[in-house]
Amino acid sequence: MTAAPQALLSVRDLTMTFPGRRSATGRRGAPVRAVDGVSFDLGEGETLGLVGESGCGKSTTGRMLVRLLEPTAGSVEFDGRDISRLSQGALRPLRRHIQMVFQDPHSSLNPRQTVARIVSDPLLVQGWTAADARRRAAELMELVGLIPEHIDRYPHEFSGGQAQRIGIARSLATSPRLIVADEPVSALDVSVQAQIVNLMERLRRELGLAYVFIAHDLSVVKRVSDRVAVMYLGRIVEIGEKHLLYDDPQHPYTRALLSAVPLPDPAAERRRERIVLLGDPPSPAAPPPGCTFHPRCPKVQEICRTERPLLRVAASREVACHFPGD
Ligand SMILES: Nc1ncnc2c1ncn2[C@@H]1O[C@H](COP(=O)(O)OP(=O)(O)OP(=O)(O)O)[C@@H](O)[C@H]1O
Ligand code: SF4
Ligand SMILES: [Mg+2]
Repeated sequence: MTAAPQALLSVRDLTMTFPGRRSATGRRGAPVRAVDGVSFDLGEGETLGLVGESGCGKSTTGRMLVRLLEPTAGSVEFDGRDISRLSQGALRPLRRHIQMVFQDPHSSLNPRQTVARIVSDPLLVQGWTAADARRRAAELMELVGLIPEHIDRYPHEFSGGQAQRIGIARSLATSPRLIVADEPVSALDVSVQAQIVNLMERLRRELGLAYVFIAHDLSVVKRVSDRVAVMYLGRIVEIGEKHLLYDDPQHPYTRALLSAVPLPDPAAERRRERIVLLGDPPSPAAPPPGCTFHPRCPKVQEICRTERPLLRVAASREVACHFPGD
């Protein structure tokens, strides 16, 4: 386990198995192990980037961290308390510390509520008076770069970037210590993405927030993260300090992902070798035996087909591969 400065969040063997979906004939498919034994620590004020292809279990992990989903197994300790099995009542006082920002700002904001209502709602739940909550909502609008006088407008009156600022203001209402941001910029225009990333960076510095930042865009993750975890088919396959991962990836899957990120220097871009992965990720309802990456791995050996590699320290980070490195 890569040690965090002071664990605000301690995740151990987090697992989510969904029942198989029913087909048109009413038969249930095999259960889906969407998240399969994920463990990591996150320090106060730290950002962990969570990356991986579509369907690898990033959102499911994020939703368990904020207890929108109850894990099938494993634990999520926040500030030393396991929140993964608390009742909704016992969870309520802790909810203010852990908030979530979603991908699509317009669909995650209630279109029939004004910004005042949307942003102050978490405060009303915590027992604030309507007048105090409204005042705080106006302050929060200013903090995220919106005009406080627009407080009585509705979400559709804002652009995508502005709507995401509303989502962020709402997530900040209760002064959380941890924000799980699930692809917070991927639904936005590229020009707006940088503004929202800058805003989240500034808020982190000013408010001392910790983030779990979920994204499939490795350039965005590189900008915001201190450490990065790479997921494949429900498991972390490499986790460690950002520069170590980006400069010298050890897992063949991390290498392949990074080889697809465009380099700013055209000469370096021409020299660089692309690693093309064969096929799509397998279904989590029928994961391959041994190393689940083996059917697509350019370095596969016999042992990979039968023995599951566990996360272990290699080159100052953790890697789940029998043959890490070059
Ligand atoms: N409620 C559910 N019931 C059954 N299977 C589910 C459910 N939610 C997610 N899954 C499956 O779990 C796996 C992980 O899904 P998840 O949404 O966590 O992936 P993701 O990494 O966030 O993908 P994306 O990058 O597309 O957002 C997928 O195979 C998905 O189909
Ligand atoms: S364990 Fe084998 S198949 Fe899996 S990533 Fe490493 S080399 Fe590839
Ligand atoms: Mg997702």
